[in-house]
Amino acid sequence: MSEELIAADIRKARTLPSKFYYDEKAFNDSKAAFKGWQFALHSSQFKTNNIHPIEHIESITGEPIVIVKGEQVNCLSNICTHRGMRLISQECSKNSFRCEYHGRTFDIDGKFRNMPEFEGAIGFPSKEDNLHKFPMAVWDGLHFTSQDSPPPIPWTEVESRLGFLDIKSYVHDPAKDRDHSISANWMLYVDNYLEGFHIPFVHPELNQALDYSGYITETFEGGVLQIGKAMEGDVKFVLPPNHPDFGEDIAAYYLWLFPNMMFNFYPWGLSLNIVVPVSPTETRVLYRGYVGDKELAAKGAGAIVDTVEEQDQKIVEAIQKNMVSSAYDSGRYSPSMERGVHHFHRMMARIFQK
Ligand code: FES
Ligand SMILES: [Fe+2]
Repeated sequence: MSEELIAADIRKARTLPSKFYYDEKAFNDSKAAFKGWQFALHSSQFKTNNIHPIEHIESITGEPIVIVKGEQVNCLSNICTHRGMRLISQECSKNSFRCEYHGRTFDIDGKFRNMPEFEGAIGFPSKEDNLHKFPMAVWDGLHFTSQDSPPPIPWTEVESRLGFLDIKSYVHDPAKDRDHSISANWMLYVDNYLEGFHIPFVHPELNQALDYSGYITETFEGGVLQIGKAMEGDVKFVLPPNHPDFGEDIAAYYLWLFPNMMFNFYPWGLSLNIVVPVSPTETRVLYRGYVGDKELAAKGAGAIVDTVEEQDQKIVEAIQKNMVSSAYDSGRYSPSMERGVHHFHRMMARIFQK
C-alpha cells in the first residue's frame, strides 16, 4: 500500500503539500469533496418567498436546483422536463411553475400538470415529465440538499452542545449578507478557519473578546467543533444546567461541516460562511446572518465578524502567493492547536488518494 499522504499521528504528520493548493488537477479532484450535503437555506427565508433557486449550490455542483415550500419543503430540479429551459431565475412566491419556453406547467411539488399541443403524444405524460426531486435534510430550521445519497449530517455529534439553541426561531437578516471573492484556494480558507492558533497574532480585537487559553477543538467524522471561551464579563451563552459546558463562559461555538460550511453560533444568533471553490486560486465566500437576539448582536466575539473576516482573507491571500515557492512544500502541525487542520487534511487525503 502506498504511503499515506497525511500521517494519522499528528505528532509525526506533515501538512498537505503546497501543489494541492494551486494545481489544476488537484483542484478538480478536490471538488469530489462537495458530493455530500450542502446548506441551502434557513426556514425563515420562506417568510418572504416560497420558491428559492439556490445559486451557490449550482456554482459548486453545476446542478440548477430550486427549494420550494408547498405542503412540504422539496428540492427540485430547476430545469424543465421538455427541452431543458430554466424554470426559476429569482426567488418568488407562486403556487405552480410555468415554463417560459413552450408553456409546460408543474405543480408546486414538481408534478407535471399540463402541456399545450401534446394531444397525440403516446405514453405521455409519464413520471419522467415530473421535475426531479433531490434528497433533503433539515436540522432545526437549517435545510440541506444533496445530489447523491450521502451519510446523514453528523448532528448527533454536536447535539449535546448545540441542541439547546433554538435555530429555527432565528430570522435571516439580509443586511448581514456578504459575498466576497478571495484570491486563494478554497482549502487554504478552510485550513485557516480550523485553528484558533492564529487568533492572538492576526485578530487583536477578537483576542480581546476570547479567552485564548480556554480554546477547545473537537474533531468528529464529518466535522470539527471549536469552542471559544468569553473573557470575564463579556457576552456569553446562557446554557441549560444539563449542558456539558454549564458553568463555563462560552462566547462562540464554531461548527465546521465537511467540506465547506461554517456555522458560527454566537449568543445573538448564527453567522454562516459557505465556501465556494471557483478555480485553483479563487474562492467565493458567502456570509449569511440569522439573528436570534438583536440586542446582543453588537456585543462580544460575534460583533466584530466583518473585521475578523477581513483579517483572515488577507492572511489567506498572502499564503496563496507563497504556495508556488520552490523552498516550501509542507510543514508540521501543532499537536495541541492544529488538530482541526490535520483532521481536514486527512479527509482530503482520502479523496486525493482514491
Ligand atoms: S422547455 Fe419548457 S416547455 Fe419547452
Ligand atoms: Fe481567523
